[in-house]
Amino acid sequence: MKNIEEYYAPWVKGIPMYISAHIEKAWRDPSLHRMMSNENPNPPSDKVLDAMVRYAKMANRYPDQGLVVRSKIAEINGADGPQNVMIGNGSSEVYDNIFRMFIEPGQEVIQHTPCFGIYGLRGKLLGANMVSVPMVYKDKYLHYDPDAILAAITDKTKIIVVANPNNPTGNFMDPKHFVTIAETGIPFVIDEAYVEYAGLGVSQVQLTKKYKNVLITRTLSKAYGLAGMRFGYTIGAKEVIDQISGSLLPWNVGTIPMWAALAAFEDTEGLAERVKFNNEEVDFITESLSDIPGFVIFPSKANYILFDCGETGKTGKEVLAFAETKGIILRGETEKYGSNGWFRVTIGTKEENRMFVDTLREFFGMKK
Ligand SMILES: Cc1ncc(COP(=O)(O)O)c(C=O)c1O
Repeated sequence: MKNIEEYYAPWVKGIPMYISAHIEKAWRDPSLHRMMSNENPNPPSDKVLDAMVRYAKMANRYPDQGLVVRSKIAEINGADGPQNVMIGNGSSEVYDNIFRMFIEPGQEVIQHTPCFGIYGLRGKLLGANMVSVPMVYKDKYLHYDPDAILAAITDKTKIIVVANPNNPTGNFMDPKHFVTIAETGIPFVIDEAYVEYAGLGVSQVQLTKKYKNVLITRTLSKAYGLAGMRFGYTIGAKEVIDQISGSLLPWNVGTIPMWAALAAFEDTEGLAERVKFNNEEVDFITESLSDIPGFVIFPSKANYILFDCGETGKTGKEVLAFAETKGIILRGETEKYGSNGWFRVTIGTKEENRMFVDTLREFFGMKK
């Protein structure tokens, strides 16, 4: 009898369950300040809660394929209709569906690093080789490098994925470079998880009308504040959405998240308030830490800010450890570009953001 090991697909062997240690920790101890996972600090609005309760009472029924919410998404984004929209349990599930319709083992996915880790995890599960093209660190800024992305293309490239704005850097790529990449014809996933903070005016969604290979992904986990509900979507050309929708598990999105999402889209005032709050707090933190010598703050258009304290002589790990003594969980980053000073904060409540600023000022020996 052969060992079970010999039956696994070779490329999935040893892949562990994804565990986000800091999220596990935060759920175990609710007194901790969750400034690490790019969540929204504000709970859902009453309008959204009402929708959740209404559909919770019908939880004995199977959901449909989300025609109403998909139509709403199409309307908000100037797409023709629900046939241009596929929905999933968060955008992480949406990439998974996209990836599995294109990738065969041994093929390549180009990502622009530093970036969101789930692309790599889902790509590897399908046997893809992840090709990481680094952004360029110059003049205290991480620049997109579209030429390097183009140069990394081979005949094995099946997907190019670029987040706009990028996590963790918080910046946008010049719109003209999206066109250049789209022109290659290679499936091009533009991850707009945080785009609502800058407004849909900066979205690249219009490219889906001209380029069948462009797919825009979005989520309600960020500006809409529904990370625990798990709702994400992609917008693309009808025939591409038709094909990738073939990968959907039947009834993949539950009734409650689907109708909560619709209520969130309709609550435009609620979104505007959250965005305004976030953007003011980004400015507050950025300004409050701007006088620390050698401290690099990356200008952010999202709900997090990246820092590099390498030049201050301290490490990111030391900052994280000190913040933890104050009950604040931040996000560490691996050593890169010759610095081990990287870390990221997620915008918290007003009170948490002031605590964060005081903590950092104390750590760096600055006046309050
Ligand atoms: C760039 C980016 N895309 C997507 C997501 C994931 O979102 P979802 O909750 O929709 O799976 C995140 C979450 O941190 C992210 O940073």
